Amino acid sequence: MSASNALVIAVDGPAGSGKSSVCRGVATKLGMRYLDTGAMYRAMTVAVLAAGVDVADEAAVEALAEHTSITCGTDPSAPEVWLDGRDVAESIRGLEVTAAVSAVSAVQGVRRRLVEIQRSQVQAARHAEVGIVVEGRDIGTVVVPEADLKIYLVADPAVRAQRRALENGAGKPPEPESVAATHEALLKRDAYDAGRDISPLAQADDARVVDTTDFTLIEVVEQVCALAAGVQR
Ligand code: DC
Repeated sequence: MSASNALVIAVDGPAGSGKSSVCRGVATKLGMRYLDTGAMYRAMTVAVLAAGVDVADEAAVEALAEHTSITCGTDPSAPEVWLDGRDVAESIRGLEVTAAVSAVSAVQGVRRRLVEIQRSQVQAARHAEVGIVVEGRDIGTVVVPEADLKIYLVADPAVRAQRRALENGAGKPPEPESVAATHEALLKRDAYDAGRDISPLAQADDARVVDTTDFTLIEVVEQVCALAAGVQR
């Protein structure tokens, strides 16, 4: 068994299940790299919207993806993402991007291109003998099916909506209408992400399910670190 910080940990789950906070917490605690694959699909969506391409026009989205460069940092304390050399870490979180990202991420050419980059980041971490925590929707099933540990994070949809509404309001207590609208948008995005033909949001057969509904972030990070400590390689 080697040190837990040389592991590849795949974390999948629906929107608002706590993936980003948990993955960054685990990577920081175990001295590992961190890759947010959702940020890459969001960056591609920024490119599509900026070019005025219709997100429903798969061929046009695919053609644009071929000429778009997306790079992602792997430092859990400062996640960075660049689109054609431009820092888009902030603009990827806009509501317009969130509304369009599921359609863009369902395009085969987009996934082919981004999965290639994601696998090369995992390879680079392995090569450097550093561990990496990778979060997304298809990490344990498609991107790194050979991951040392697979986690599928879930949480009650009402709790997920509350968390997302809080994030969208930059920490201010959200209005009930805003939580209700976020709840509806979140369920719609989950249905789209889980229902698409290519690499849908799915739980790998050998994933450990962690329900974050009733736990604090620190408690969930500890649960995942305990699972990582128990991995035999
Ligand atoms: O995790 P997130 O909300 O930032 O992800 C944005 C979208 O990207 C999500 O709705 C689905 C898509 N996505 C994907 O299809 N595959 C991944 N590995 C990660 C995200």
